[in-house]
Amino acid sequence: MADAGLTARPGGPLRGRVRAPGDKSISHRALILGALAEGETRIEGLLEGEDVLRTAEAMALFGATVTREGEGRWRVQGHGRFLEPEAVVDCGNSGTGVRLIMGATAGFDLIACFTGDQSLRGRPMMRILRPLSQMGATYLCREAGRLPLALKGGGLSAIAYRLPEPSAQVKSAVLLAGVHAAGVTEVIEPEATRDHTERMLRAFGAEVDVADAADGRHIRLAGGQRLVGAAIRVPGDPSSAAFPLVAALITPGSVVTVEGVLLNPLRAGLFVTLQEMGADLAIANVREEGGEQVGDVTARHSALKGVEVPAERAPSMIDEYPILAVAAAYAEGATHMRGIGELRVKESDRIAMMAAGLAACGVGVEEEPEGLVVAGTARGNHAVAGGGLVRTHGDHRIAMSHLILGLGAEKAVAVDEPGMIATSFPGFGELMAGLGAEIG
Ligand code: S3P
Repeated sequence: MADAGLTARPGGPLRGRVRAPGDKSISHRALILGALAEGETRIEGLLEGEDVLRTAEAMALFGATVTREGEGRWRVQGHGRFLEPEAVVDCGNSGTGVRLIMGATAGFDLIACFTGDQSLRGRPMMRILRPLSQMGATYLCREAGRLPLALKGGGLSAIAYRLPEPSAQVKSAVLLAGVHAAGVTEVIEPEATRDHTERMLRAFGAEVDVADAADGRHIRLAGGQRLVGAAIRVPGDPSSAAFPLVAALITPGSVVTVEGVLLNPLRAGLFVTLQEMGADLAIANVREEGGEQVGDVTARHSALKGVEVPAERAPSMIDEYPILAVAAAYAEGATHMRGIGELRVKESDRIAMMAAGLAACGVGVEEEPEGLVVAGTARGNHAVAGGGLVRTHGDHRIAMSHLILGLGAEKAVAVDEPGMIATSFPGFGELMAGLGAEIG
């Protein structure tokens, strides 16, 4: 992708109130369940990032009528089933999109071909294909379960599946396949991951049983249940809110509020960790919206200290380690992040990308096979050298994290391929500029 770079310059304090874009995970699920259901689904606050727009296009290919009615307002007319798509389903950069859609597809007697961009074609799909084939789906794929691949579904039998990796995408794929499988599908997760699929299946009329046991969380869903269209209000994405909030924490004199942020505890690990680091984070106006808790989060510039992030917290902040590493660079003392091997199979190898990017900006960093140690540099206010040109490997969160790093550094920080930011946070540059950041 030809993409001019973007540079963040150190400047004055950041101030203001903004609204986070819609939650990406919930946006994908609203479109997919809307297409699987019978009748009309109305969505408000849908994230109109490229990943989610790919899922919207995919749902149209599977036979749903998908209409944009205004900013963030979408209508999905589902038929209670997927039809065979006439073209290849291209999910772009989105692992969530392709994995959840494959799960939903497996329930139907049809063949669908899936692909994605260069990053997605390099990501592991066996984690989805393994349980789906145990249920009765068949597939043809490139070596080691890579895209492009063809999937044939239909005639599924329920399974009990213990997640080998803590992945909400795998859990969701199995549950979505389970909607059309014979028998009761059970997913056992040793570590609880984001539960938006379970919550939303209920909002669409399905019965989902969730029970905690000594060996983890058991989620059970009987096949053959009817899903009916629903009204979905998408809360603000905590993974996106993290960028302006951490920017405020590291830039002297800043006070920034992000309104309407999803506070689901299975997504809130970053806020807990930042508070342990000494961040001045205040959560106000907590309310329920569309079955989820949301609130307004205010961050003030804070003296941060390094911490040990417990490995078991990883699923609740898995996408936030890059921006946590930025906060850690501004802290006093080292921050140890362990048990984060899953970061190596995200949009890029995020452990390697953060280690390289931080090092290019003068931050001491140590890469471990399943961890990252960031040496905090806090010695007064402007302690991070900056000055680097950071290679992002087309990863939106690596790009945004380093731009935030540049706002508090001694010298500007540039990133390549900033166009990828639009996959999850369209309007990131404008939102940050509105708070006073110099990014251009
Ligand atoms: C997601 C789950 C996580 C996360 C991704 C969104 C989801 O991936 O990294 O951005 O919406 O289910 P894994 O399930 O691979 O951990």
